[in-house]
Amino acid sequence: MNESLKKQRIIKAFSSRADNYDSVATVQRIVASKLAKRIKKLSLQMNSRILEIGCGTGFLSTHLIKDFSDSKIMLTDISSSMLDKCRINVGDVPQYRLLDGEYPEGINGSFDLIASNLTFQWFCDLQKGIERLCKFLAPNGSLIFTTLGQKTFKEWRLAHHVLGLICGTPQYPSIDNFPNKEGLFYHIDEELIYQRYNSGYDFARTLKLLGAKEPVINHKLLSPSSIRRLLNSLQGEFIVTYHILYCEVKI
Ligand SMILES: C[S@@+](CC[C@H](N)C(=O)[O-])C[C@H]1O[C@@H](n2cnc3c(N)ncnc32)[C@H](O)[C@@H]1O
Repeated sequence: MNESLKKQRIIKAFSSRADNYDSVATVQRIVASKLAKRIKKLSLQMNSRILEIGCGTGFLSTHLIKDFSDSKIMLTDISSSMLDKCRINVGDVPQYRLLDGEYPEGINGSFDLIASNLTFQWFCDLQKGIERLCKFLAPNGSLIFTTLGQKTFKEWRLAHHVLGLICGTPQYPSIDNFPNKEGLFYHIDEELIYQRYNSGYDFARTLKLLGAKEPVINHKLLSPSSIRRLLNSLQGEFIVTYHILYCEVKI
């Protein structure tokens, strides 16, 4: 599968779930609020310019608008349905723009802050995406984002492994192997969040309702009988790790 097909599938998956997203995105909401606290500590000047990548339905956007009311904020997402939902939740004050954040073409000017919550794990090439975004940073500007780390969903991967099945969850980076580029300065913190589900089925259903179901490129989907075996092995409470990387990049 090529990159453009993968993007189309991501857009379709999130667009079809824009109405359900808020009711199931518990971890995303928690992480958005923690990221917002970090961003608030930055000493942003009055009238600064802020760009958000992958705003979704507006969990982080709501904080940004409240905390930086004198800033010029542009909210972007690759899915127009997510943007529409965001506008309903957040209102008409910020600017909205349909944008693939990995290829931020056609954006004018530079930004004092580029922020993003739990979106960069959908990039096809994380390092190149970060490099392109950094070109839009104003002097002293920061790119601040959260993304998923290596231990994310380790219980789900293990359950596949035990049954000899191949898991479609992407390999996320750790702090140690985080894609790094000379000339960019990174600060990364990490956190493990343990989220409780009623069962493996409940976990898989939640990912589907979030729109977060696109597997790694060329993953062969499990057969119905393999899915049945997997979910049978995960009956009862299922606790799943979300490994969150909080990253700040400066030029
Ligand atoms: C897991 S949701 C997170 C949404 C929001 N930031 C939040 O915290 O709830 C991922 C969002 O990223 C968007 N997305 C995925 N790939 C993207 C890309 N390349 N550029 C911009 N947005 C993207 C999806 O449409 C979706 O709205």
